[in-house]
Amino acid sequence: MNSNEIIQRDKEYVANTYGRFPIALTRGKGARCWDADGKEYIDFSSGIGVNSLGFSDPDWAAAVFAQLITLQHTSNLYYTEPGGLLAKTLCERSGMKKVFFANSGAESNEGAIKCARKYGHINRGADCDTIITLEQSFHGRTLAALSATGQHAFHTQFEPFPTGFKYAPPNDLDALNAMVDNNICAIMIEIVQGEGGVLTLDRAYIEGVARLCAERDVLLIVDEVQTGVGRTGTLFAYQQFGVLPDIVTCAKGLCGGLPIGAVLFGEKTADTFAPGDHATTFGANPAVCSGALHVLSRLNDEYLPRVRKLGERVRAQISAMPHVTGVSGLGLMIGATLDGITSREVVNAGIENGVIALTAKDRLRLLPPLNITDAELDEGLHRLEHALRSV
Ligand SMILES: Cc1ncc(COP(=O)(O)O)c(C=O)c1O
Repeated sequence: MNSNEIIQRDKEYVANTYGRFPIALTRGKGARCWDADGKEYIDFSSGIGVNSLGFSDPDWAAAVFAQLITLQHTSNLYYTEPGGLLAKTLCERSGMKKVFFANSGAESNEGAIKCARKYGHINRGADCDTIITLEQSFHGRTLAALSATGQHAFHTQFEPFPTGFKYAPPNDLDALNAMVDNNICAIMIEIVQGEGGVLTLDRAYIEGVARLCAERDVLLIVDEVQTGVGRTGTLFAYQQFGVLPDIVTCAKGLCGGLPIGAVLFGEKTADTFAPGDHATTFGANPAVCSGALHVLSRLNDEYLPRVRKLGERVRAQISAMPHVTGVSGLGLMIGATLDGITSREVVNAGIENGVIALTAKDRLRLLPPLNITDAELDEGLHRLEHALRSV
């Protein structure tokens, strides 16, 4: 089938929930992929931060395949090796104590929200059930995760939403302090607000939130669904700010292209859940956990400084490109503000020029594979510059 035929069939049979770009991708290798008409693209999107090791990495695929042909699924009624090993690895590298496996970012946040409410209920009373999140945040598409999302655009037409969320302005500690009362069981933040525009919270604010949480026995939840698993140049972004959350959620890049989510519990919350409190059929799927273990083995402490270095290089290069008025983000999570053109126009021009980029509201957002080669990066930046010149 050619691109047009694939697109037309999709339009006929797949629910119309995505504002898609008109390309149909059929194969990929590293940071390169090709559409059904044979056109090549450099991928600066990683499937929205998922393909940590690029497209169809052979060693990653071999790790998943070896587990697939050994034991592909059992349910959580029984123990398997990959889930336990992945949980141990995540705990050792994050400073957290226990892990619940989910299948997506939104589901991981649901787990975090439930845990925070139970913690509040047990430790601080039945009315301690409210979570403060930040304006411009994004926490996912399930009803509770949407309710947690501090963007009113998401809070229409699907009412009623679960209650128990309040929204604070980012980087304003006084406002946050004023909102914390005996009903607040947790504060949930993204270190870099991804969907909100690739906005990194101020260091003093992150430190202040952590201090406030510790002083008031309020749980600090860090949503690392987009920032986690090496994206910002450390395994988790909070590790660059000297804070230790009570709950961390991650998903996207953890298995490099297969669905997984994880809720990491710290000292305070490690034993909050009891059997029957939370579950999901596919959680800790052995094949997916094997893929995640492979991703983590590649994104080790020796490798991650390269992500930070590449990030600095990309930011320096794109800040000199036409229409770019500023750059933001951490590591290979990159945002750019634009003058006089929309981010969607740039992404469309990128497609024309053979580079796939993302938007984050009015900003251009780049999330290249974490193992992108220097040559792929150069080629992608060259095409992006060409695209920016053309709009
Ligand atoms: C910070 C953050 N949290 C949660 C989510 C939701 O993740 P998922 O789409 O896997 O449910 C996203 C997705 O973009 C995200 O960026």
